[in-house]
Amino acid sequence: MTVMKGMKGLILAGGLGSRLRPFSHSMPKQLIPIANRPVLVHVIESLRDLGVTDIGVIVAPRSGEIEEALGDGAQFGVRLSYIPQAQPRGLAHCVMLARDFLGDDDFVMYLGDNMLTDGVRDIAEDFRTHRPAAQIVVHKVVDPSEFGVAEVDAEGRVLRLVEKPREPAGNLAVIGVYFFTAAVHAAVDAITPSARGELEITDALQWLVEHGADVRARTYEGFWRDTGRVEDVLECNSELLKGLQGAVHGEVDADSELIGAVVVEAGARIVRSRVVGPVIVGAGSVVEDCSIGPCTTIGPRCRLRSSEMEHTIVLEAASVTGVGTVRGSVIGRQATVTSAVAPGWHRLLVGDHASVEVAA
Ligand code: DAU
Repeated sequence: MTVMKGMKGLILAGGLGSRLRPFSHSMPKQLIPIANRPVLVHVIESLRDLGVTDIGVIVAPRSGEIEEALGDGAQFGVRLSYIPQAQPRGLAHCVMLARDFLGDDDFVMYLGDNMLTDGVRDIAEDFRTHRPAAQIVVHKVVDPSEFGVAEVDAEGRVLRLVEKPREPAGNLAVIGVYFFTAAVHAAVDAITPSARGELEITDALQWLVEHGADVRARTYEGFWRDTGRVEDVLECNSELLKGLQGAVHGEVDADSELIGAVVVEAGARIVRSRVVGPVIVGAGSVVEDCSIGPCTTIGPRCRLRSSEMEHTIVLEAASVTGVGTVRGSVIGRQATVTSAVAPGWHRLLVGDHASVEVAA
């Protein structure tokens, strides 16, 4: 069932991603791979599952890499229109920029760094049935002070919204999926920049509440992460790998052992190694004299030699040689990590193209 057929989608993939440094220096944070596919691809698939196929994507200037990775969307069964944003002036600013694309249609706005791995079909269905002016998605968190925070009555009506409050009223964080009718356009036009200099979507929603509009909140109970930080990227990777089905398309030699769900993609080779799933070894990668897993994804064309690795993401064409145990790490594209003797375990966040030698 395509619950949102006819609705548009708006993915926000601009911004700076400063919390995801060093990776966001060389790539938009929304392209970080989770289970070997960029966050943005997971987002597009989540929208497509709702039947939303006409999607605008807000991108920062010089983010040709996003357009290169996603193209016109045909490979995912959607149609993408790119909308450039010169400066990250806020989530509500993105809605203003997309005004022509959106027209007066209802739309679902999805933050391009948010992962809701259990999907939002029932929440989308609710919006379509009741069609309030706007509907947000909330999630109970321990410390909501780094998010938008919603106060909601027993019927799910939003009473008040505050962006990143120092003293949050309640534990309901606003998470990255918003359903809007055209009523939002008057709100984004009416608000002024916040203390951090951004046009906040939270303020636009609060404006709607204050002007008597029906703004609803629905609770999402599943797994959610804002992938703005490395820890969240790694947790998300582990969560997604839980559902992995093992499959060997590459080569595994007789001296190697695969245990649990392991995907060996085409052209990949496992030599004298032990791999404990869930693990994905990307296309064309070579794993030699290693012990890998669990919860690890290795991108395409990587070289791993004489190392142990767990709860780690290795990006495209990186190489790791002789580095004891690598744990809870992210190794950037084409990075090289070597060591003559490095026993013990290491936590490494190595940016793209970096070259690191770990001392004994
Ligand atoms: O993750 C949920 C939180 O997302 C909400 O609880 C907050 O209410 C909401 O304001 C937002 O907070 P963040 O500070 O985490 O937003 P961030 O700057 O990370 O931007 C979210 C996405 O939108 C990200 O993919 C970048 C993109 N973006 C952001 C800005 C400010 C743009 O495309 N343009 C922008 O101007």
